[in-house]
Amino acid sequence: MERTFLAIKPDGVQRGLVGEIIRRFETKGFTLVGLKFLKVSKELAEQHYGVHRERPFFGSLVEFITSSPVVAMVWEGDGVVASARKIIGATNPLTSEPGTIRGDFGINIGRNLIHGSDAPETAQQEIALWFKDEELVNWQPHITPWLH
Ligand code: TYD
Repeated sequence: MERTFLAIKPDGVQRGLVGEIIRRFETKGFTLVGLKFLKVSKELAEQHYGVHRERPFFGSLVEFITSSPVVAMVWEGDGVVASARKIIGATNPLTSEPGTIRGDFGINIGRNLIHGSDAPETAQQEIALWFKDEELVNWQPHITPWLH
């Protein structure tokens, strides 16, 4: 079953949007398999955003992600990687569609509330970077299959 890595960034936590953001993935029908609340180290932030190392915003991005706690999560379900990206919306909240998390709650590209893996391969790397195997729970909700 496909899995993705999501992280509610410091702005999402500071603004009290944790419940609202989690609700969107729960009510969509995806399954939560990992969840933790942590202050991100500089090392983890630099590894997570390694592809952006040469970009001008890299320093401020790392500084922001390490500034205050985040909620790190793993969600499971058919097509969850692409679907979560749709639920999250485009990178710049000013152009994200209304109805998406960024479109509904954001105005600044550097404060776009949530991270979501961009492809299944990236998701696997990010899950391995943020979670130990024993922190992920293999389970299925007791919902009859015809409900979703
Ligand atoms: P990126 O991986 O391009 O976006 P996404 O989070 O939608 O996958 O960029 C990572 C983060 O870097 C992005 O969420 C916010 C930040 N960022 C900036 O601050 N300025 C920028 O110009 C870009 C492209 C990203």
